Amino acid sequence: MIQVAPSILSADFAHLADEVQRIETAGAEYVHIDVMDGAFVPNITLGAPVVKSLRKCSAAVFDVHLMVERPEAQIASFAEAGADVITFHIEAVRHAHRLVQEIKSLGCRAGVALNPATPLVMLEELMADIDMALIMTVNPGFGGQKFIPSMLEKIALLRHTAEENDFALDIEVDGGINAETAPLVREAGANILVAGSAVYGASDIEKAIQAIRG
Ligand code: DX5
Ligand code: ZN
Repeated sequence: MIQVAPSILSADFAHLADEVQRIETAGAEYVHIDVMDGAFVPNITLGAPVVKSLRKCSAAVFDVHLMVERPEAQIASFAEAGADVITFHIEAVRHAHRLVQEIKSLGCRAGVALNPATPLVMLEELMADIDMALIMTVNPGFGGQKFIPSMLEKIALLRHTAEENDFALDIEVDGGINAETAPLVREAGANILVAGSAVYGASDIEKAIQAIRG
């Protein structure tokens, strides 16, 4: 089952509630929420209060992607704000396993993200306990970048390892996903596809979502 997770990073921030409604009506199951702190990545986007306000307007799965230093300091407020999935970057933490446990104890699904340069082996000791792995297919920080094709092998290897071990792991991909790259990542084994500019930049977002879902 392929899920599409439009990223509100490419939405109009002055009308976020409407922008979330728009993708839900168009058939998206997930809303991908990019949290940037100006330290882990150059930009600053939004924090838990915005998620809390949006929660009142949407029943979709809130997929919070934390691109922040010290995510351990933020987990509780995002869980309280209504996040369903909380993903942190392995590059930003010392005690990844503890953080996975914390996210789950707060009633959320736990995801771990890997930058393009971070090898899959970083997930090895976590894979049995996480719900989702997020393979970045661009370097995080900006929407509208070009998909990095060498990530396809990483996705395929991760899917293979998960299957070999009988782990029901969601594999999410994020960055440069559009109608052209979506079939490639689906084929490699990704099952949750984030797309920012390809959805919000489309004239017909329902069609765009369908094309990405395949
Ligand atoms: C990038 C973000 C992405 C971004 C993707 O750092 O994590 O979620 O919104 O945007 P597109 O789909 O335009 O590459
Ligand atoms: Zn993201």
